[in-house]
Amino acid sequence: GAAEKGGYAHFMLKEIFEQPRAIREATAARLQGGRVILQDLTMTEEEIRNIGRIIIIACGSSYHVGMVGKYNLERMLRRSVEVVLASEFRYSDPIVKRGDLVIAISQSGETLDTMAALREAKKRGARILSIVNVVGSSIARESDDVLYTWAGPEIAVATTKAYSTQMAVLNMLGLYFADILGTIDRQTYSEMVRDMQRVPEYIEKILESAESIHDIAREICKSEDVFFIGRNLDYALSLEGSLKLKEISYIHSEAYASGELKHGTISLIVDGTLVIALGTYGPLFDKALSNVVEVQARGAKVLALTTQTHAEEMGRHVPMVMTIPDIHEMLLPQLGVVPLQLLAYYIALERGCDIDKPRNLAKSVTVE
Ligand code: G6P
Repeated sequence: GAAEKGGYAHFMLKEIFEQPRAIREATAARLQGGRVILQDLTMTEEEIRNIGRIIIIACGSSYHVGMVGKYNLERMLRRSVEVVLASEFRYSDPIVKRGDLVIAISQSGETLDTMAALREAKKRGARILSIVNVVGSSIARESDDVLYTWAGPEIAVATTKAYSTQMAVLNMLGLYFADILGTIDRQTYSEMVRDMQRVPEYIEKILESAESIHDIAREICKSEDVFFIGRNLDYALSLEGSLKLKEISYIHSEAYASGELKHGTISLIVDGTLVIALGTYGPLFDKALSNVVEVQARGAKVLALTTQTHAEEMGRHVPMVMTIPDIHEMLLPQLGVVPLQLLAYYIALERGCDIDKPRNLAKSVTVE
């Protein structure tokens, strides 16, 4: 009924709007006095210093969090981090041994492939740290360490607040490890902690502009093919933006690393093709802009996502621009995902789709 949706038309919209609160819940106790405090982590500093390989395993949107995590953890820890689909990991005779850390990410804590991958890694001696939303779930119970996301129950099949809180937890974990390993400078550490605390209020600002995203959705909802493009963190974000859209609107949508465009996808860009260009990541903004120019030259209709700093310049090239506040580079996907969730939601709404229960999809996939 309407009451359980808190006055929102769908659980998905309610959960999108719950994100500031959910992220506060996930971070408040863990960010204190300008530091990351992970009281729920049982790993000792020595164990953290002795970690071998770091491998993230997950499915669906949780895997996309892992993609963001790979960029951020590698940058913070200056070591390689792998992110592997759980369904691939379990059948790959994975190279993991004692001392390696496997990070399992799962909203439900019940995804069969993630569970099987976890068991495979555990059998080979890896330490398992899981980032889970559902308290007491199977994955949580079988892990050596659990960092709960505290997002509260998520009802809509398409994940929103779970994705956001998983990302927040992974970022905090990265900072915590980096501090112990001595791989992050004071300034970056402090800025990250400060900006992480700003994420909820910045998301509130983005949510205030929901109606303008609805307007954009009305303009593009008839598209049948969409290409999301981006580099680095914008690439990781594009994977989630594209999945969100296809899950609930049934529009054919693909995410491409911008640099790969010319290796194939550009042949699909014709007059009127919708391209959603993610250009939030400041260090590569010029590259994002030149890709926009490139696809427009082939007739693409471009919707861009960028930060306040670059909005004006982007606006000189692109007719439709969505803007997010400026924040530490590594936190841009925390903000960038919100307009993409709203966009997917409003497009699905305009198309009359069953938003909370999309066809053929389940909230938790407990079969192979
Ligand atoms: C299903 C859901 C997705 C989710 C994925 C992984 O496909 O529809 O939203 O990302 O499972 O689920 P998990 O609970 O492991 O995060």
